Amino acid sequence: MELVQGLHGVPAADSKICYIDGNKGVLEYRGYDVTALAEHSTFEETAFLLLKGHLPNTLERQRFEDELRHHRRLKFKIVDLLKLLPENGHPMDAVSAATAAMGMFYPAYNSEDPEQRHQATIRLLAKLPTLVAAFSRIRRGDEPIAPRDDLGHAANFLYMLTDKVPDKAIARALDVSLVLHAEHGMNASTFAARITGSTLASPYGVISSAISALAGPLHGGASEQSLVLLRSFGSPDRARMWAEENLRSQQIIPGFGHRVYKVKDPRAVMLQKLASDLTEKTGKGGLFDVAVELEKVVTQHLGGKGVFANVDFYNGVVYDRLGIPVDLFPCVFAMSRVSGWLTHWNEHVSKNILIRPTQTYSGEREKKWIPLSDRA
Ligand SMILES: CC(C)(COP(=O)(O)OP(=O)(O)OC[C@H]1O[C@@H](n2cnc3c(N)ncnc32)[C@H](O)[C@@H]1OP(=O)(O)O)[C@@H](O)C(=O)NCCC(=O)NCCS
Repeated sequence: MELVQGLHGVPAADSKICYIDGNKGVLEYRGYDVTALAEHSTFEETAFLLLKGHLPNTLERQRFEDELRHHRRLKFKIVDLLKLLPENGHPMDAVSAATAAMGMFYPAYNSEDPEQRHQATIRLLAKLPTLVAAFSRIRRGDEPIAPRDDLGHAANFLYMLTDKVPDKAIARALDVSLVLHAEHGMNASTFAARITGSTLASPYGVISSAISALAGPLHGGASEQSLVLLRSFGSPDRARMWAEENLRSQQIIPGFGHRVYKVKDPRAVMLQKLASDLTEKTGKGGLFDVAVELEKVVTQHLGGKGVFANVDFYNGVVYDRLGIPVDLFPCVFAMSRVSGWLTHWNEHVSKNILIRPTQTYSGEREKKWIPLSDRA
């Protein structure tokens, strides 16, 4: 069998969750266009859609939201654990470690039991924002803020992060971004979740491994790198000069390119609009103008190769406008994508098969063992 480097284009599962046409820029969750979901649905409704396969009716939506609100709080020992972690460490490592540790408090060792899967799914969805906000405050020497039951998922997160109830437009901007990040087919972190899940490991271990996979700069870590880069320019002209020089030396520019999309990522289109709206609202245009200029130059140079702005590019500008610290960007991504990971985990383990591929071998064979004294 021929080896396909990076499993490029190799199907790893038959799934009913997400449809992507990378040549046309189409993304659908359970058959619904992501643009319509971002315009009309909340993150909670989107998570329900992913998990259950249909949009909730009023009662289903209410029950699901109530369940999530009920499970937002963290055990005090998890908060203590966060307090013991180095404040300069990356928050993705803290969130991954605390998520794995949650498995010790909620043993759910029978992944094939739908009820145990449901409990773990709700807990993970509900608690991840509390974990992220708690670590962000603890590392600055502040006490974590308890969640508020009267706030939605996005507004509650911003409240726990900043100790201020956000205004409706700000909370909705985060909500839209959470909808846009919720699911994306067989990406690296989802594949990691399915692989870990296929061993019937604990769901907390499944999500912890997915968080670690997401953290890398070629995946969710790109959102952080992209904003650091944008902030370093100071003006659109400097962004243009930098890009022209670095593209000549074939440097990889974070926030551009995608394994699947060969046109502009549909989520980038929506996030650009969101970034533009927020920029107008806050009246600070600098960063957005720099981003638009950088996109123009990169597209001129790399559009022919199918490299365009991806989901991480304008999302950084959105999170910057929302006042989210830059190293939390991938954590906020994880707070959303956990819905997709959990949906894939549920789909996989409900008809479980261990994922265990093979490899080709190009190393040496049948060598004679050499005693230590004879080795060079
Ligand atoms: C995401 C990514 C890993 C996809 O990689 P891939 O599918 O393996 O695509 P390739 O590396 O084969 O890219 C095709 C060509 O475009 C170039 N390219 C791809 N992304 C690029 C980028 N961000 N900056 C500059 N050049 C890029 C590659 O160097 C390659 O050029 P070549 O054909 O001359 O060798 C890659 O685009 C990347 O590293 N992007 C930056 C990180 C990022 O934003 N990740 C988040 C993705 S949502």
